[in-house]
Order: sequence, then structure tokens, then C-alpha cells
Amino acid sequence: MLGIGLVLVAFCVIYYTHLLIKWRYPKINGVRVQLPPGSMGLPIIGETIQLLIPSYNSIDIHPFVRKRIQRHGPIFRTNLVGRPVIVSADPEVNKYIFSQEGNLVEMWYLDSFAKLFAFEGESKVTAIGRVHRYLRGITLNHFGGESLREKMLPQIEVAVNDNLCNWSTQGPVEVKSAISRMIFNFTAKVAFGYDVETSKGEKIENLPNFIKSLMSFPLNIPGTTFHKCMKDIFLIKPLMIWHQRSFLTEDFIAELAFGILFAAFESVSTTLTLAIKFLAENPLVLEELTAENEAVLKKRENPDSLLTWEEYKTMSFTTSVVNETLRLMNIPPGLLRKALKDINVKGYTIPAGWTIMLVTPIVHLNPETYKDPLKFNPWRWKDLNQATLSKSFMPFGGGTRQCAGAEFSKVYMAAFLHVLVTKYRWTKVKGGRITRSPILLFPDGVHIKVSSKRD
Ligand code: HEM
Ligand SMILES: *[C@@H]1O[C@H](CO)[C@@H](O)[C@H](O)[C@H]1NC(C)=O
Ligand SMILES: *[C@@H]1O[C@H](CO)[C@@H](O)[C@H](O)[C@H]1NC(C)=O
Ligand SMILES: *[C@@H]1O[C@H](CO)[C@@H](O)[C@H](O)[C@H]1NC(C)=O
Repeated sequence: MLGIGLVLVAFCVIYYTHLLIKWRYPKINGVRVQLPPGSMGLPIIGETIQLLIPSYNSIDIHPFVRKRIQRHGPIFRTNLVGRPVIVSADPEVNKYIFSQEGNLVEMWYLDSFAKLFAFEGESKVTAIGRVHRYLRGITLNHFGGESLREKMLPQIEVAVNDNLCNWSTQGPVEVKSAISRMIFNFTAKVAFGYDVETSKGEKIENLPNFIKSLMSFPLNIPGTTFHKCMKDIFLIKPLMIWHQRSFLTEDFIAELAFGILFAAFESVSTTLTLAIKFLAENPLVLEELTAENEAVLKKRENPDSLLTWEEYKTMSFTTSVVNETLRLMNIPPGLLRKALKDINVKGYTIPAGWTIMLVTPIVHLNPETYKDPLKFNPWRWKDLNQATLSKSFMPFGGGTRQCAGAEFSKVYMAAFLHVLVTKYRWTKVKGGRITRSPILLFPDGVHIKVSSKRD
């Protein structure tokens, strides 16, 4: 009996070791390739738990990434929720990957959507191209170029002023949710002609939640919003096939595109909330910001006229405050790609099908470019030249998939700060803590009391 027991135990040990080796040293086509160093953690859960441990009150990138870079170097492998991942914090590698968009790699969310949206007989690559063109197209049409300069800038200013005026008649306001509501209302109506108050369908309002998690950080773990969304998607899919497929699919893409855009607006409210936190903690910055914006009003013939594009272009300290906030914000720990083919970088192989996480924020915290990198210091932007920035500042991503809403976001944030500091006084009442878990969040919000300067 004991003999059989021992044999069984030995068998289990051997079997488990075999599993573990297979798990930790995967092969491609039977050949063991040179993977980047790193640990695949435990079978199934990988190193997910470590990524989910929140970091508190440090603006630094998530310790999950920091620690592993120290241990393994800038390229390492890991496993998140059963999905093998190569993490790269190597700027050269990241630049190369960005240049391979649609060829060796594809954006992670586009890749997962492509399966849903492909028409009969359409290849995944074609479907991705179609969804992507549509999304980029409507963004640039609505939020880019001339219409941004001539039509939208004054509309932004008026809407911001209406909202701040409303805040000033109330007690303390939680900034993150108040700004989210403000942007949602503004874009729904101004850009998409969608009336929040009178519309009977609530689809668009529901969709942001549905998409938010997809865009933020797609950890498919039971209990997370992302998990719920994936389940929803897979419930919808058979319905789509059941109906006249192409018609419903087009419709769904349109809705999805709006959803993605509304999710993108969340980044604007997060950035502005962080800016307000930094301004509250740095009175000298607030002073110079106010001085620059008041000077703009003083130069005008009519101080009540609206901010022009030419004036906006002269507000370099305001832009520095926005840039400095974007440098430190780094909402997700990295941008996600899927390897479409085996990729060779720096002597390592990234196997086809693996997820790639490009840690673009790493360049934002390089002490050689940004002295004392964790310090909020908008004055540093005076000494940074465009050549340095093209390599060391990429809050909107890189390559051909760069953010289509970047110009709009910068204008919106500058206009918001302009109205806030010229027309209102405000103090932080409570909150202001941050956490990265793994995306940037404000666990107890940022609450400010706003009052009009004219009172
Ligand atoms: C501070 C605010 C924002 C930040 C920091 C930001 C950041 C980014 C980043 C990093 C990417 C690239 C993602 C990747 O490579 O995986 C991206 C893509 C994109 N963003 Fe933004 N975004 C912001 C606001 C917006 C807004 C307001 C819109 C819409 C008006 C928008 C629309 C898009 C679109 C359409 C893409 C996909 C572009 C493409 O694939 O060609 N973003 N954004
Ligand atoms: C003013 O704020 C209140 C409370 O947040 C909100 O219910 C109301 O709709 C706002 N009104 C306008 C005109 O923005
Ligand atoms: C939403 O925007 C419209 C103008 O487009 C404004 O009349 C309305 O009061 C706003 N509502 C809220 C809640 O901000
Ligand atoms: C802010 O960053 C952009 C790059 O996105 C750069 O072109 C611009 O010069 C920066 N502004 C200031 C004032 O440094």
C-alpha cells in the first residue's frame, strides 16, 4: 500500500513539475525559443495578484512594473489571467513595435473586437482596418482641425463657465465626477447632437461603463466590470449572427465607436482632476497660472470676449501645466498590443498570439530627461526641446495609432483651466489621494469648494 502511495506521490510531483516547466518555458512549434527573462507565476492566475495589489500615494509607475524592471531588465515576460505577456519598458523596442502596427502587432482591443465585427468571409485584418478607420474618422471629423479651432473652442469655454457657475452655487463638488458629467453633456449634445435629457434610449449612457473597462485595463477576472462586459459581448454575438448580420453589425460598430469615445473622455476628466490636485498642493504654480491667464484678459479690448485660438497659442505656462500633468498621470501602466507573428527583438522572441505591454510611461520618469522626475514642476518645460520631447513624451501613444483626440483634449484642458483661474476661486476641502490599481484612480475623490471671483 505504502509503495503504491509513494509511486502516486512521485507521479503527481513529476506531473506537476512537467506542467510547471511547460508553463514557465513554453515552446513554439516544438522548439524552445529564447523568451525574455521573468516569471510566469502560478498556473492559471500567473502574476495577476501582484498586479492587482494597489500602490498608494505615489505617482510613480506601478510597483509591479518597477520591481520587475529592476530584477529582469527592461524586457520581461509574465502571465496575467492565463494570458502570456511580454512587458517592454525599452524605448527602442517600443518604437519598433509602434512602427509595426497592423503588420506584426495590432491594438489589443481592436484584435478582440475584430472577431465580433468581421462580415462573412472577411479576414480579421480587413475587419480591424474597417473598425479602426471608422473610429479614427469620426473622432477627427468631430474633434479635430478647423472645427476645433473655430467652432468648438468658444463652445467649450461657454459650457465650462456654465458648469463652474453651477458649482459655485453649491457646497463642495467632487471634481472627477462633476467634470465627467460636464464633458459627457457637452460632447453628447454639441458634437453628436444627442440630447441627454430628451432622449428615450439610454444606450449611449450605458455604453461608457460597458466600454470603460475594455479601454482601461482588460483583466478578465470574475467580479470585474471587464469580465461582465466580455460576457455581455458574447451574449450579443449569437444574436447578431441570428439577425440580418451586416445591418446589425454596422449599427453596433457605430454605437461601439461612440462608447469608445465617451470612455476616452474619462481620460480628460482624470487629467483635469489630477491637475487640480497638483495646483492645490503647489500654490506658486497656481499663482503663475492665474497671472498668465489674467494677462490674456487684460490685453483684450473687450475683457468679456471669448478665448481665441491665437490667445490659446500664447498661453505657454498653461500648456506646461497640462504637459506636466500628462507626464505624471500615465493612467494605465502600459499600452496593450497583440503579436500577430513571432517578433524578434534584442535577441528575444515574442511568440505570435502573446500580449505585449508597452510601458510608455517609463520615459516620462527618466531622471536624465526630467530632473527629480516625481516632482510636479511645470517650469521644467521651458528647458525641454522638441527633439527630446519626441522621444521622451508620449502621453497620447506613438506611431500611427496615436490618440486621435489629443489636440481636442489639450484645448479642452487649457480652456477649463483658463475659466477656472480667471473667474473663480477655489479651495480643496478633502480627498486628493491617488492609487494605481493598476490604473490611476482617486479612491476618495478630490472635493473642492468653488466661488465666483466677482462675489
Ligand atoms: C487626456 C486625455 C487622453 C489621453 C491621455 C489619451 C491617450 C490615448 C492613448 C495613449 C492612445 C493610444 C492607445 C494605444 O496605443 O494603445 C489613444 C488612442 C485614441 N484616443 Fe485618446 N486619449 C485622451 C483623450 C481622448 C479623447 C477626448 C478622444 C476623443 C475625442 C480620444 C480618442 C482616441 C482614439 C479614437 C484613439 C485611437 C486612435 C487610433 O487607433 O488611431 N482620446 N488615446
Ligand atoms: C447643476 O448641478 C446640479 C447638481 O450637480 C445638477 O443636478 C444640475 O443639473 C446642474 N445644472 C446645470 C444647468 O448644469
Ligand atoms: C447640458 O448642456 C446643455 C447645453 O448643451 C445645458 O443647457 C444643460 O443645462 C446641461 N446640463 C447639465 C446637467 O449640465
Ligand atoms: C507640450 O508638449 C507638446 C508635445 O505634446 C510640445 O509640442 C509642446 O511644446 C509642449 N509645451 C510646452 C509649453 O512645453
